[in-house]
Amino acid sequence: MLRTSLLAAARSPWARNVVERNPLSQPVVNRFVAGALTPDAVSATRSLVESGRAVTIDYLGEDTTEVADAKHTVEAYSSLLSALSEQGLAAGADVSVKLSAVGQALPGDGHKIALDNARLIAEAASAVGATLTLDMEDHTTTDSTLEILSELRVDFPWVGAVLQAYLYRTEADARDLASAGSRVRLCKGAYREPDSVAYQDKSEVDRNYVRVLRILMQGDGYPMVASHDPRIIAIAGELGAGRDFEYQMLYGIRPGEQETIARRGDKMRVYVPYGVQWYGYFMRRLAERPANLAFFLRALATR
Ligand code: FDA
Repeated sequence: MLRTSLLAAARSPWARNVVERNPLSQPVVNRFVAGALTPDAVSATRSLVESGRAVTIDYLGEDTTEVADAKHTVEAYSSLLSALSEQGLAAGADVSVKLSAVGQALPGDGHKIALDNARLIAEAASAVGATLTLDMEDHTTTDSTLEILSELRVDFPWVGAVLQAYLYRTEADARDLASAGSRVRLCKGAYREPDSVAYQDKSEVDRNYVRVLRILMQGDGYPMVASHDPRIIAIAGELGAGRDFEYQMLYGIRPGEQETIARRGDKMRVYVPYGVQWYGYFMRRLAERPANLAFFLRALATR
């Protein structure tokens, strides 16, 4: 119920206005977001890399309704990749892109605009030795996102995608994607979805996660296990023993566990969001964990 309300608020312009304009939000937001500007993302990358963790960086923004905003997002990724390269941090780095931030949600030819813009980002990543992963948004975008993935992979076979364990379709998508060279991040799923397309019960989502993970680990692709759930992490360790894969977690969430995994020699990549459009991302993090909401409300009340 709380999750549903917070996810509804994540898409409400009214709630957005209230939360964004409250200066007291910022200290809590800073726990989950690396900063507003490119140098903030570069500096977070440097400290994560120095502690043995890799990164995937997200320039925050989604549901773009203007072509110019989509273009601005492409430029932001391009500057970020150049800055990482200048600092010797680009090789092995990844950028995560929401296709709705580069035009997918535009009426008419949104799909084509998003494809062209994602291609520009893939070219910029390729030029500095970085990779690109396409984030997955709500289920109305899944077909378009997987089509764009397959078109990009013709020229950039290392472009990765995200599958969401809460969707019924994901088991079939995982079978399609578990092929050589295919980078697949598996997460539980962060959006509000109807029961016509998605499991609603947490234990069913978790069971499907393990089913899909097994498919990916038995396939020939490169699984990326995106979860903070200790049970999932333990199962991934067993299923992935002796093969190449990586763990992924979000910036600011279970940082101690991130370091433990990196220290024991397993590959750990941290998803680093930055930029001023933090609202939707932040609300999804609150929705995942009531304790985060309590922390947020306490911070507001005690200032
Ligand atoms: P779950 O929510 O069951 O949490 C398990 C435990 O992890 C909790 O008990 C708590 O200890 C800890 N935890 C989880 N969330 C926390 C939080 N917000 N704050 C503090 N502790 C927390 N989703 C999507 O739909 N599309 C996408 O493209 C992506 N991309 C993505 C990349 C990466 C690297 C990660 C880690 C996650 C995503 N997600 C995503 C989000 C994902 O779908 C999911 O909502 C969150 O990861 C939470 O699910 P968990 O698997 O962590 O388990």
